[in-house]
Amino acid sequence: SKPMFNEPFRPQFHFSPPSNWMNDPNGMVYLDGEYHLFYQYHPDGNTWGPMHWGHAISEDLVYWEHFPIALFPDEHGTIFSGSAVVDYTNSSGLGSLDNPPMVAIFTYHDAEGEKSGRNDYQSQGIAYSTDKGRTWEKYHGNPVLKSPGINDFRDPKVIWHEESSMWVMSLAVKDRISFYTSPNLIDWQHRSDFNPEWAAYGGVWECPDLFPLTASTGEEKWVLLVSINPGGPNGGSATQYFIGDFDGKVFNTETNEIKWIDYGADNYAGVTWSDIPKEDGRRLFIGWMSNWLYAQEVPTEIWRSSTTIARELNLSYLKDDYVLTSKPVDELKKLRRDPIVFNTNEIELPSELLEIELKASAEDFKLTFLNDKGEQVIFEKIQGKLFFDRSNSTSLGFHKEFNKMHTAPATVVNDEEIRIFLDRSSIEVFLNQGEIVFTELIFPSSPYSKLVMQGIEPKSIVYPLKSIWGN
Ligand code: FRU
Repeated sequence: SKPMFNEPFRPQFHFSPPSNWMNDPNGMVYLDGEYHLFYQYHPDGNTWGPMHWGHAISEDLVYWEHFPIALFPDEHGTIFSGSAVVDYTNSSGLGSLDNPPMVAIFTYHDAEGEKSGRNDYQSQGIAYSTDKGRTWEKYHGNPVLKSPGINDFRDPKVIWHEESSMWVMSLAVKDRISFYTSPNLIDWQHRSDFNPEWAAYGGVWECPDLFPLTASTGEEKWVLLVSINPGGPNGGSATQYFIGDFDGKVFNTETNEIKWIDYGADNYAGVTWSDIPKEDGRRLFIGWMSNWLYAQEVPTEIWRSSTTIARELNLSYLKDDYVLTSKPVDELKKLRRDPIVFNTNEIELPSELLEIELKASAEDFKLTFLNDKGEQVIFEKIQGKLFFDRSNSTSLGFHKEFNKMHTAPATVVNDEEIRIFLDRSSIEVFLNQGEIVFTELIFPSSPYSKLVMQGIEPKSIVYPLKSIWGN
């Protein structure tokens, strides 16, 4: 019998595992019309445990099909985060030119080694698939990259660097990103380290991603994403980014200001898809929609955690500075039912699944989502600062760090266009084409049924959304 995925709080247009624990998205790669999503998965419990790679496939980044577990622990350890690429030239020799292998590059975590006090218990391994990601073989010569004796040595994100005809691996090494290169995904050589003094170091560096983007100015820049936990701007886990240049070996940044991809508490360990066709050209991102502060205690039992909605990343040049913007992928529009246009500043919400488009009419504005239990979420701008307040969002007291107020600086553009996605247990707010984003979990004890607005233009467009599970 097919599960319905219709439990309270079960996301209806976000990916979640059928059951049990998930954390980071892993190995996102595109091949032949299919977007693959792997993820950190503990199949035997609803909290973190021995890690596997779960697997799902989508043809449109909206509807997901669950697939069997792709990677299981082996004698080298459990399977931590990493990436996947299609090895089109068969540089690894693990497939053929006619049937290029899909290669996953991941971290082995040797828990026994950790317990016995060794400090080289994380290493990188690879696995390959020659049937479009359906079945996987581990490489016989694993691990391919051993730790030089540093505990935190993980989360390889591999790209093909065209100019130097080399694979480049970004690796999180405690408080820095190390870059390695390889001609074949098997032999890796250390090239450089990146750890500028002024960056955010509130916690360990994890899950890097390095990629080029052509900015709105026409200039090509390289972007480096680095997740840190803890030390986020609003507590716990968050993702900072750097903009600079990369020559195949060294990443340099001109800026010296900490930048965050998201100011909400619940967008962590996000990275981008490999091998998106050139004709498409988008840089596609998805994150884990939770926070290590409370992820293992959120009030769901059957499954725990979901991803964010898929987003397109772009580089805008706003008031003398580059800004990485996040925009919900256009494919999400297929979830829209007929729009309802409201001309009042108090709305009875027509569904628990919504996309809402608003425009501020005043310098300061305020949005309040309410339910019949007196629980509420407030999103507002006051004196040039943004606030997402979920301190009274739920009466289910599951963690003291959850009920908090989160803040962000105002947008540079300051002409607030607001786009909101509301699911059963999340709100994602995108301001001015994603210049500032708040991705936030919510657990109202009954769905928010009303929206009250101040400082907002009277015309608001509300799209009830379809459930991807048909509920
Ligand atoms: C990030 C992370 C990664 C690690 C994985 C383990 O959330 O800590 O650094 O590979 O989760 O599940």
